[in-house]
Amino acid sequence: MATTYLVTGGAGFIGSNFVKYIAGRHDAATRIVVLDALTYAGNAANIEAEIKSGRVEFVHGSINDTTLVDSIFAEYDPDYVVNFAAETHVDRSITGPKIFSETNVMGTVTLLDAAARHWRLPDGAWWDGKKFLQISTDEVYGSLARDYDEAQPIDIPETLRELVSRRNDTPVSFGKKFFTEQTPLSPRSPYSAAKASADMLVMAWYHTYGMPVNITRCSNNYGPMQFPEKLIPLLINNIQEGRPLPVYGRGLNVRDWLYVDDHCAAIEAVLEKGTAGEVYNIGGLNEKANIDIVREVIALVAEYTGTEPRYDLIDYVTDRPGHDMRYAIDPGKTAAELGWIPMTAFSEGIRRTVKWYLDNRQWMHNVISGEYREYYRKQYKQTDRP
Ligand code: NAD
Ligand code: DAU
Repeated sequence: MATTYLVTGGAGFIGSNFVKYIAGRHDAATRIVVLDALTYAGNAANIEAEIKSGRVEFVHGSINDTTLVDSIFAEYDPDYVVNFAAETHVDRSITGPKIFSETNVMGTVTLLDAAARHWRLPDGAWWDGKKFLQISTDEVYGSLARDYDEAQPIDIPETLRELVSRRNDTPVSFGKKFFTEQTPLSPRSPYSAAKASADMLVMAWYHTYGMPVNITRCSNNYGPMQFPEKLIPLLINNIQEGRPLPVYGRGLNVRDWLYVDDHCAAIEAVLEKGTAGEVYNIGGLNEKANIDIVREVIALVAEYTGTEPRYDLIDYVTDRPGHDMRYAIDPGKTAAELGWIPMTAFSEGIRRTVKWYLDNRQWMHNVISGEYREYYRKQYKQTDRP
């Protein structure tokens, strides 16, 4: 029997990359249904080719809409629900937190509730082959210390280094601790608190009703089709427009960057091989301080466009309130149980990414019209001076 995927948020950054990933690896018997509300971050053009070719059934609507969600379960009988749909930008959660709970918490409950209605048999057992996968984030674990200073990051621990021994880089770490699946939840922003709440609700459906669920907690993704409110596409766009590059605080915060296709591969592995009720951490073993990302992106844009590197655009601005210092995922469990490892070295992934945005100016032009300019003016009032 061919598999049917219900991909919520499939017109956003990771969701649309996942749709392409699945469509590219499975034949037409595999059905892909996308439910997306097309908020400011959703862009049906990301999956236009797949919709036009019939590979994707696109449903425009909200995961909060019980009637619509029920009708999708009734019509398509999905085997896998992959819930990407969310409000995702930390800065927006600081200025407008309510929608984050409405979508990320209540939307998830609506999906869980519908899945339970359609997947549960009268005797309380569950149809075979069903799975609810909640796409969560490393931010639910809170913030790690940066124990090593700027000039002296250290090699990552031997056990983790082995995981990426086939990769063409030497990963470094900025601290002693990593997030494991046992790390207590300690979210610190309205965004991460809403995501942590959703995780707990997903586990409640597992423990109370026996629903077959998994949760993945992933680090920062980068790659094509990311909305330019997020650091990397924002930098690429601003460099091209000659605008200041806003760096929060001193640019020393550390994120663990994962190329989006590696995330998609991990999600597929969890869907196919993950043990019900388990959480799987997904990370790139690619820790970078923000300022180093900024410098690398500036250098690559210059290289690809044959222009002078615009280090002069770097603009240190007021820090994000409650700014988490460091995220670093230990993906050891996912590697050991599912055979997944983060294959893309940052040096390769970032080249592909910068090139994609430079080659797709029209995509950027389309998404930064309208709402984006208003958001940017409010968020970066100190730096918005083209
Ligand atoms: P995104 O903001 O690019 O896309 C979110 C998508 O969800 C959009 O298409 C939007 O239209 C849709 N959406 C929002 N509200 C909806 C609703 N009520 N009903 C239906 N659709 C709705 O986000 P992303 O970066 O692709 O993140 C996807 C998921 O992955 C999120 O759950 C996020 O928490 C998680 N995640 C993201 C990252 C990252 O680095 N981007 C890392 C780890 C986890
Ligand atoms: O870790 C996973 C998370 O990664 C996901 O759950 C979130 O959905 C996703 O948005 C991302 O969160 P971050 O807050 O880490 O991503 P962002 O791109 O907003 O910021 C990355 C780092 O860069 C962070 O330390 C803040 C900093 N930054 C960001 C922006 C937008 C700046 O210095 N200047 C900026 O203008």
